[in-house]
Amino acid sequence: MKIKSGLIVVVLTLLMVQISCTTETPTDLTKTSFIPQPVSVIATGNSFVVKSSTVIYVEDGLQEYGQYLAAELNKISGLTIEVNSTDKVTGKGILLSLSDKDPELGEEGYQLTIDKKHISITAKNMAGCFNGIQTLLQTLPINASTDEQLIIATGVIRDFPEYAYRGAMLDVARHFFGVEDVKRYIDFLAAYKMNVLHLHLSDDQGWRIEIKSWPNLTTYGGSKQVGGGEGGFYTQEQYKDIVKYAMDRNITIIPEIDMPGHTNAALASYAELNCDGKATELYTGTEVGFSTFCTDKEITYKFIDDVVRELAELTPGPYIHIGGDESHVTAIEDYIPFINRVQEIVVSHGKKVIGWDEIANADLVENATVQFWADIKNTALGIEQDAKVIMSPAARAYFDMQYDSTSVFGLHWAGYIEVDHGYSWDPATLVPEITKENILGIEAPLWSETVSKMDDIEYLVFPRLPGYAEIGWTAPALRTWDEYKLRLANHGKRFEAMDIDYYRSTLVPWQE
Ligand code: ACM
Repeated sequence: MKIKSGLIVVVLTLLMVQISCTTETPTDLTKTSFIPQPVSVIATGNSFVVKSSTVIYVEDGLQEYGQYLAAELNKISGLTIEVNSTDKVTGKGILLSLSDKDPELGEEGYQLTIDKKHISITAKNMAGCFNGIQTLLQTLPINASTDEQLIIATGVIRDFPEYAYRGAMLDVARHFFGVEDVKRYIDFLAAYKMNVLHLHLSDDQGWRIEIKSWPNLTTYGGSKQVGGGEGGFYTQEQYKDIVKYAMDRNITIIPEIDMPGHTNAALASYAELNCDGKATELYTGTEVGFSTFCTDKEITYKFIDDVVRELAELTPGPYIHIGGDESHVTAIEDYIPFINRVQEIVVSHGKKVIGWDEIANADLVENATVQFWADIKNTALGIEQDAKVIMSPAARAYFDMQYDSTSVFGLHWAGYIEVDHGYSWDPATLVPEITKENILGIEAPLWSETVSKMDDIEYLVFPRLPGYAEIGWTAPALRTWDEYKLRLANHGKRFEAMDIDYYRSTLVPWQE
């Protein structure tokens, strides 16, 4: 009798172990290392298992996001998951739908609800739905070979961003990066809910966007890059392809034509843009501040009007960035009327103006945005004129600043930015002159003097990018470095699975 009951206990125990190994092991949703940290995560102690029989149901208009999610799930697990319309909901499934009944979520927020049978993402807009998909993907392993690994803990996540503008910049002028590299950069932003890619398309060393009315800009002005190697440029068709790829991932492209300084590539391509009527030589060094458009020649404004017109036609996003930084050889009495006139050109083509903080010395047009990178006085002049501010303080947010003195790539003129230093600041309190209501958002720029390959970019961008994404998304009260570094450590495997060549900062307890 004794032996029998002992056996029953053993058999029952084995059965329970068996059940817990082969069926759902509920995990705790609050233990997931989300980046950016959501507004609220509630765990309900059960689990949903993604299987080949799982169907993604989408409302009208969300078909592409359904396909995107299916493709991402396929990358993780090899499963082929059907995408169907929400009219056809039957068994287990993942539902994507839109609803304006939850105003707290705002334009980009979402609610992700996971129970045993269903996962649902609801949002007011497609943007919110995309953000919810990114959160859902972070609940899954990066690679899974069995259903058991595709277990998602149940619960409810409600989430919306702190700032509307969460961006990164890529300088494709110093060194040129082709369409595939730009798409990979876009994938990095999308995975962390960043929604802007600012492309620095022209500088002294190269002009990178085809302008049909001024063809030498690219055929000659785009032919070289820093160090003297072969440059490159995007045809208008390629640029449109980038814009579409970004838009499908909730990312707005902001094109920048930097002027009146940083213009040697244009000045070398067209003699008439120079005050002395002589074309300059192509330039492949890394000095700044030596070039300027001839601000009192009418042809300069005809040129800018053509460039902005063509660019505005190719760009569905609301902004054109006019640069305006480091025009050291443009007298201030020439600089101000120049910026005033260029702003009017941008507005005449239906776009809003963004410029580096120097443009605030001019008379800003309505809805102009000032990008704070260096000078608080300039930025304060912008705020006095009711401009919004994008926070890109070089000493905190420049991807091209080195981590420390041993960094292989990058510069350090604004200081070193270790991963903790890049993360531990609040845009709304960094500088007393700039307060929350002035700020549109945050952007981390990558200048490419020292980087010429995607691997070099990855080293500077990772692991800092998730931190900038979190600063833009998550309220400061929910962020501390000591807690964040543990979540970041858990993303190391994600970086590896994406073949990202990241900097293994010793400040982060990476998992083996
Ligand atoms: C800049 O770094 N020159 C905006």
